[in-house]
Amino acid sequence: MTMLAARAHAHANIALAKYWGKLDAGGNLPAVPSVSVTLDALTTTTEVRFDSNLCDDQLVLNDQPASEPATRRMVAMLDEIRERAGIRWRAAVRSSNNFPTAAGLASSASAFAALALAASRAAGLTLSESQLSDLARRSSASAARSLFGGFVQLPAGQPGSSFLAASRLAPASHWDVRLVVAVNSRKSKAIGSTEGMKHTAATSPYFDAWVELSRELAPRVAQAILARDLQALGQAAEQSALAMHACAMASDPALVYFEPATIACLRQVRALRESGIAAWATIDAGPHVKVLTTPEHLQEVMRAIANTEGVLNVIASGVGGDATVELVQS
Ligand code: PMV
Repeated sequence: MTMLAARAHAHANIALAKYWGKLDAGGNLPAVPSVSVTLDALTTTTEVRFDSNLCDDQLVLNDQPASEPATRRMVAMLDEIRERAGIRWRAAVRSSNNFPTAAGLASSASAFAALALAASRAAGLTLSESQLSDLARRSSASAARSLFGGFVQLPAGQPGSSFLAASRLAPASHWDVRLVVAVNSRKSKAIGSTEGMKHTAATSPYFDAWVELSRELAPRVAQAILARDLQALGQAAEQSALAMHACAMASDPALVYFEPATIACLRQVRALRESGIAAWATIDAGPHVKVLTTPEHLQEVMRAIANTEGVLNVIASGVGGDATVELVQS
């Protein structure tokens, strides 16, 4: 016997004010506020079917059985959903990205947002946007933001409170900005964000300064978005990314996510700006660079970044919408 199955679509997002660091209290609560833009070009589609005939959860990612660590994280979310829904059935999960996961592009955000949405719907739960965001956040804090389209904020966690959800700052229709993703490596990242954050918080002498700066940058980023001020947004976003990496690089041993192409892209972005093109860079826990620009300057930025030494390929994206879910015939 099977229950209803559900399929969800969620977009990746890129933080313009970065989250890096967790509260010590546990529960995967961020130590700093973050603000992101949802990317329409990068999408995860996930289908979940609870089935009384299954002995174990079956997880297939991009047509391959999921790795052991990925399985553990997904089963933890499924267990939480089963407990809330009062069901015991195991689930068959199929998830695929329309972008190269192996290249180390952020996929946990869209993956856990899509899983939270599809699995809770398939289990018959009716959760509010905030409850879904909080559920996704327990697996990956950036996933809390991928439930929403447009521009999204996630506050820092509060000690003593285990609930934390992202919220929509402005819908996708608020502002047509573009992101150019420079794919700078085909390797998966060496140190994942959870491990990297813990190591940074434990050993970087700049961690407290990073937390303090983030409290100032996140409202500046949010304000610049609301005012549609690209220069103010670009400056604050670039500072957030570079301060996060500087803090990680000062860890012991050093945590360096950059490759030569990362630096080459930063130089290219600066040169573009000096020639009057709107371009600001942001970088997550990997070597790839995402360049914020306008629709008018998109082609020029894409050409320049594609021709930058070490860049393997470029992906252009606009601002994406909310995650969606539909029931499917099982
Ligand atoms: O949500 P996680 O655990 O994958 O961490 C995301 C960390 C960064 O991508 C570097 C920053 C962010 O805010 O998305």
